[in-house]
Amino acid sequence: MIKKIFFTLIVAFMFCKATCQNIATVPESIKTSKKVMNDFMDKRFGMFIHWGPVTLRGKDISWSRGGEIPTADYDSLYKEFDPVLFNADDWVKTARDAGMKYLTITAKHHDGFCLWPSKYSRHTIAYTPYKKDIIGALAKSCKKFGIKFCIYYSVLDWFNPDYPLHSPNDKAEDPKANMPRYITYMKNQLKELITNYDPYMMWFDGAWESPWTNEMAVDMYAYLKSLKKDLIINNRLGKEIAGVENKDIDVSKMIGDYDTPEQTVGRMNMNTPWESCITICTNWSWVPNDKIKSLQQCIRTLASTAGGNGNLLLNVSPMMDGRMEARQVNRLKEMGEWLKENGRAIYDTKGGPYKPNDLFSTTRKNNKIYVSVKTDTTLLSLKPLPQKKIIKAYFLNGKEVSFLQDSSRILIKFPTGLPDKNCTEIVLELDSDAEDIPVIE
Ligand code: GLC
Repeated sequence: MIKKIFFTLIVAFMFCKATCQNIATVPESIKTSKKVMNDFMDKRFGMFIHWGPVTLRGKDISWSRGGEIPTADYDSLYKEFDPVLFNADDWVKTARDAGMKYLTITAKHHDGFCLWPSKYSRHTIAYTPYKKDIIGALAKSCKKFGIKFCIYYSVLDWFNPDYPLHSPNDKAEDPKANMPRYITYMKNQLKELITNYDPYMMWFDGAWESPWTNEMAVDMYAYLKSLKKDLIINNRLGKEIAGVENKDIDVSKMIGDYDTPEQTVGRMNMNTPWESCITICTNWSWVPNDKIKSLQQCIRTLASTAGGNGNLLLNVSPMMDGRMEARQVNRLKEMGEWLKENGRAIYDTKGGPYKPNDLFSTTRKNNKIYVSVKTDTTLLSLKPLPQKKIIKAYFLNGKEVSFLQDSSRILIKFPTGLPDKNCTEIVLELDSDAEDIPVIE
């Protein structure tokens, strides 16, 4: 009897949770499978590209519209956009040589301009002097070089009169706007993108504004999955994201397959997949003489991201003529060289078991723990590994490293210093599986 009452109460509670609070959720049956998500997370490193006619003025994409660049001027820039030196293969080879496994490009940012010849808009690449389809060329080149092709699409659109807000400062929704018509526009364009370019993933952004609701996001998720079952969709389709605050999110409210902390390394999470998007300079799109991050910063950021079980989407900002800046290309090449030697510690690993800190982060695979040392030291002290024994420690190139272990700590010694000042990788070989160790704070 008690069992029965208990059971009824649980069912009633679950029903109430779903209906009383009216939480918009994606049905389990259409969610992207664990297998697809695991494959995505194994990739660890991708290229983000923010690009468009705004590069002619060298100001940040969309946010400068109506601010540093008067709106009418901004919206006319496409008439001069002629990136004659754009070469899709050059960009994709740059990504590949950097050790990146996927590429995500702003097909439509908040300014509404489309880098593909959408038949649903006149504000596209087809109406520029350049005319040629950028998205199409990149999709094709990515296939050729084995890089997964992903598309960024802004939910909000300050250019389209049907979308109720026309600038980031707009407080009141335009009564002449028509959100249902705008959603049809989105669906038409998204169908066009998915059927023409077969993206691996859709990267949404800009769902924070008032016209967009979680209910619209759930409907859109279902629509996209009906077009392509295994399409990966980030969580910025909905409103629950880590974002710039890097907050701990409520996964039950998340609409999308993975979380998206911004301009910061995400929090360690062994359950919910995540990807940090971080700029190689300080702006998303090209700004002259923008401060570029050092190689050490870039490598350590990647190591810390993998250590927390996440991916890094590193943003580059090509110029108005279609080329990437030489200094950005060089930095990426240096990262590729580091990854050629050290990629084993990054790709296809799990984060942890240690929670990343300023001195080191760790990844693991089978019976190995990879320690990324992010400080210049001759001694590293780690908390003990419960029920596991280290049988061997060595640098990735095989050279042995001496260590001590007892019940209170592990001490790893480098009497002559560390070979790689940017980030040295050390392998700890255990007597059994490293993947089942609970996270060590
Ligand atoms: C922000 C900005 C946008 C950028 C994005 C990338 O949401 O609005 O400019 O594309 O971050 O994460």
